[in-house]
Amino acid sequence: MIIDELISKFDSVFDEKYKKKTFFAPGRVNLIGGHVDYHGGFVLPCAINFGTYMAVSIRKDNKIFGYSNNFEEKGVIESNINELDYLETDDWFNYPKGIIKTLIEKGYKISSGFNMLFFGNIPNGAGLSSSASLELVILYALNNILDLKITTLEMVLIAKEVENKYIGVNCGIMDQYAVAFGKKNNAILLDCELNKHEYVKMDLKDNKIMIINTNKQRKLSDSKYNERRAESYSGLKILLENTNKKSISELKIEDFEKYNNEISNETERKRAKHVIYENNRTISAGKLLKENDLLNFGKLINESHKSLKNDYEVSCDELDYLVELMINDESVLGSRMTGAGFGGCTVNIVNENEIGRITEEVNKKYFEKFGFYPSIYVADVGDGCKEMRLESESN
Ligand code: GLA
Repeated sequence: MIIDELISKFDSVFDEKYKKKTFFAPGRVNLIGGHVDYHGGFVLPCAINFGTYMAVSIRKDNKIFGYSNNFEEKGVIESNINELDYLETDDWFNYPKGIIKTLIEKGYKISSGFNMLFFGNIPNGAGLSSSASLELVILYALNNILDLKITTLEMVLIAKEVENKYIGVNCGIMDQYAVAFGKKNNAILLDCELNKHEYVKMDLKDNKIMIINTNKQRKLSDSKYNERRAESYSGLKILLENTNKKSISELKIEDFEKYNNEISNETERKRAKHVIYENNRTISAGKLLKENDLLNFGKLINESHKSLKNDYEVSCDELDYLVELMINDESVLGSRMTGAGFGGCTVNIVNENEIGRITEEVNKKYFEKFGFYPSIYVADVGDGCKEMRLESESN
């Protein structure tokens, strides 16, 4: 049991018997709606049953101690509530520091420190939102134990602010939102212009979500993410001017077809094309999922990958190869890269009876081509942040 292990690890690392609580925040996959969140488009992610677990207690002094089972070699990292500036050497511990700093700056009363212990089973840096999961578990936990009365949407916005300003990754709102608002067996049709969502029931029948990690590591902040964002914005701005529309979410495919010649730079034209088509595709995909038309839903997922590959150019050979293997298999309804791209994972909707065969084939062929193995996970659609049971709490 993860919680029992977490508690006993907590007690051995911090040697304490104070009141402690345990929390969980999931990771997410985005089913469709790639690279449109930061333009105010629609996305369709869901939370998964992999995530970050945290045990936490309030201290009597102002020190903050953190330990992550995922970075055991770093040991216990220490700071205090007056020393919260970003430090490269603090590595993962910058996340709790960034959250606490931001909360204090926003006027939330934090007058003592914490002992915190983490364990995560989402692969890091694989496009499944391990960072958003870490941010939200901390926020959710502090909100709970200090009774800060922060709403879920405010937590999402604070986590995004920490990622953008403190960590320095210019992401959109999708990851933090999906992690916070996840709901078992539901996808989240999120309007990133209005920050409002609608749940769409996911009845995958005899299919499962299969996530395949290319195991090609990339760091989001080092990637071409910001470059893509700027290129697409330049193209979209020209379309907004020509159509007299205020927001990118209002741009329709007809607008692109009518005015795309006004974008003289070919790269910017392609980037804008992806955003507009993908946004409209996501709206259609949401409808198809509501109607439970999984076949056509899957086709749009495949289209999304093509567009991310050819027009937005955020894919890579490893992702393309995995998608190619999957879309040529009749037991797969849809396959695309998920997350920022340039490595990371694909998301696939696969007949559950064929998972064993597909796993074997993909492992073999991928290894033959690239000389290393992918990692394959079968995920369920899970809940957002929650408190876990407290069986082993001692007080
Ligand atoms: C990353 C970012 C998200 C989103 C995706 C691409 O996951 O954190 O905000 O932009 O890439 O869809």
